[in-house]
Amino acid sequence: MKVASIVGARPQFIKAAVVSKALASAGVSDVLVHTGQHYDFEMSALFFDELDIPAPKYHLGIGSGHHGAQTGRMLEAIESVLLRNRPDMVLVYGDTNSTLAGALAAAKLQIPMSHVEAGLRSFNRQPEEVNRVLTDHIADLLFAPTSTAMRNLANEGIPAERIIRTGDVMYDAALQFAAHADAFSDVLQRLELQPRTYILATLHRCENTDDQSRLRAIFEGIADVARQLPVVLPLHPRTRKEVERAQIPGGVLQRIRLLKPLGYLDMTMLEKHARLIATDSGGVQKEAYFHGVPCVTLRGETEWTETLEGGCNQLVFPASGEGVASCIREALGREPTFRTDAYGDGHSGEHIANAISCWGPKAQRSPNECLNIPSRVSNDVRSCYGND
Ligand code: UD1
Ligand code: UDP
Repeated sequence: MKVASIVGARPQFIKAAVVSKALASAGVSDVLVHTGQHYDFEMSALFFDELDIPAPKYHLGIGSGHHGAQTGRMLEAIESVLLRNRPDMVLVYGDTNSTLAGALAAAKLQIPMSHVEAGLRSFNRQPEEVNRVLTDHIADLLFAPTSTAMRNLANEGIPAERIIRTGDVMYDAALQFAAHADAFSDVLQRLELQPRTYILATLHRCENTDDQSRLRAIFEGIADVARQLPVVLPLHPRTRKEVERAQIPGGVLQRIRLLKPLGYLDMTMLEKHARLIATDSGGVQKEAYFHGVPCVTLRGETEWTETLEGGCNQLVFPASGEGVASCIREALGREPTFRTDAYGDGHSGEHIANAISCWGPKAQRSPNECLNIPSRVSNDVRSCYGND
């Protein structure tokens, strides 16, 4: 069995670190293809080094651009890799332009395609939602991380036999690399931070960065809270550019500790020890939840609705600086209750690899039968389709 895995953006490297390892253990050969969507050292190579991800066999060097041009260039380049390699399956992750390009290239060549992180929905028309919906509807195998994702797919009429609830590979990553972070990250010492005495923030979603009034509201809100608790903000390159364009006042920026993007181990360390996390990132919201740290999500909606339970995560639509600041202050006063089972059993990568290894026209068993995961999970599959 030969798989071609398509990655290109920061969170996909972290997901692939888990799944590629599991594929190797399951005896599946994995041709790693990096589209080059992210290319700065801190957005790409750093993750391959730190997380011991095999070097990509193909680096397509696509880089940045408008959505159509970027996705189109990826589609053409991925197609040519697939024609050369003829994998049995193409594996795509998440919701980026690299995801959609990989999915389309596979579908056009009629190569089976599977989607890790299937079924997430924000129910808007943001670029990521378009990428997710289109990818799910042409996927042959859909790996859904949560029961909410299962339900979303069922509601869209995707056949039950294509869907497997595996849990979330980001949860596996958080568990697998937590000890590495403790052993190898000295970020708290470097930044002279004490545990639970700072807020960690991240910001990169285009609906926040490319709307100057929202961007200003977020910075003003965070800077206001920074009068009482230091705020550390590793800046995504998209945000760095937009901050310059939006001319955020120097006085606001000076109150926030702006950093270059961090590696996963430093990031994990900062997340684990934060008093609170304020973010618009999907991955960071969940990591706050995994590490039991209260979160404020700087968006009006989330795909990861489980994090909202027990007061663990609070949504705030960033309409004004006061609104953002008061939501963060309120969250600082709360004592949330975290569940430990919402995102799987910490072996999602293995479940995915097992399902892939026994998938195919010649397979004797269905992927669900190969999984060997708790009955709770397969019951969820049935209950979503009302046939138990
Ligand atoms: C992409 C994904 C988003 C994901 C995020 C993870 C899409 C549509 N969006 O958003 O879902 O949450 O990655 O981080 O695919 N840039 C650099 N150096 C880099 C990468 C980007 O300077 O290494 C700058 C460029 O100016 C670029 C901009 O950041 O135009 C945006 O990058 P892009 O990959 O298009 O989208 P992201 O905002 O990173
Ligand atoms: N991350 C990181 N360094 C940073 C910011 C984020 O390693 O400076 C990690 C974070 O821990 C999470 C992932 O990147 O695992 C999330 O990626 P991002 O926020 O870029 O995208 P999203 O999850 O929103 O798609």
